[in-house]
Amino acid sequence: MRILLTGGAGYIASHTAVELLEKGHTVDAVDNLANGHRQAVDRVREISGREYRLFELDLTDEAEIDSVLEQGRYDACVHFAGHKSVAESVADPLEYYSNNIVSTLNLLKSMERHDVKELVFSSSATVYGKPTKLPLDEECQTGVELTNPYGWSKSMVEQILRDAGAADPQLKVTILRYFNPVGAHPSGLIGEDPGQSPNNLLPFVSQVASGVRPFLSIYGGEYATTDGTGVRDYVHVMDIARGHVAAVTRAGAGVETLNLGTGRGTSVLELVRLFSSVNGVDVPYRVVDAREGDVAECFADVTKARRVLGWNAELSVEEACRDAWNWQVRNPRGYAS
Ligand code: WQD
Repeated sequence: MRILLTGGAGYIASHTAVELLEKGHTVDAVDNLANGHRQAVDRVREISGREYRLFELDLTDEAEIDSVLEQGRYDACVHFAGHKSVAESVADPLEYYSNNIVSTLNLLKSMERHDVKELVFSSSATVYGKPTKLPLDEECQTGVELTNPYGWSKSMVEQILRDAGAADPQLKVTILRYFNPVGAHPSGLIGEDPGQSPNNLLPFVSQVASGVRPFLSIYGGEYATTDGTGVRDYVHVMDIARGHVAAVTRAGAGVETLNLGTGRGTSVLELVRLFSSVNGVDVPYRVVDAREGDVAECFADVTKARRVLGWNAELSVEEACRDAWNWQVRNPRGYAS
């Protein structure tokens, strides 16, 4: 297949590109490099030994994406592009709504004009809000009491995709709700480059272990969980990448919504201890107040992805810790190293 990855210079997209290229697909990327890195695109080429073109553009400019779809004859688009910081979205909601929603609308309209009938969308477990039951399955309520504009923007885009799919039965849409992607490609050539300051747990842990930061702040130690710290479903980014390969080649049409997780929860303290023991490094930490908007526990029911895609996570949290550390050691300053 000929596949276009929006946000193709980013963390999840670069790992997905490697998997798609290694399966023999033709893959191109569009990215405005706001979060993505040109070096990630170069390294995808290095790992796969295949071409991976990058069109530098902003999806909020409809004409630019049109010109790429015009020449590309793509069979499918995988839509990763979007702002993804919970904290930033609270500080700048209008930027989050305009960027994440307008870019999706532009992409969908351009796909319609160029007869591209397949979309895979990078969604997030954050659309579930405060879990009403655990594990979370795809029928659980979404878009209720979400705690930040980032989560709301994902939930709104999901609704746009469901409506677009209902209006055009030929449109094949797969909405993938990631739980907590972690880790890096085992080569250590690509990984999660959090830029100035990480949002997510594992990049913080890696930076503390490498001495870039003096200690990890553990947000909350009084949750009703095994050890009082927050529990999440950490899924190796290579498993997430393979989930996208399965989604883009899945049989059937229409709109499918699928969790990508392991089905298992890990607490912050458990993850910190795993990271330390797997890599033989110290991770000093202090337990501080809980972070506004955090839920205590969140992990996936993964039966639907297994049924619909024949996919399940194969890599362990330990392997994710090992691969994240390998990436950190080889790239102490991310792609700027
Ligand atoms: C994980 C756990 C924190 C940092 C968000 C988005 C989700 C996705 C992943 C984009 C929690 C704790 C964290 C730290 C800590 N984003 N923590 N100290 O909040 O589960 O999910 O990021 O795709 O859509 O909602 O991920 O990594 O921020 O936190 O104690 O310095 O680690 O409290 O329990 P989260 P996270």
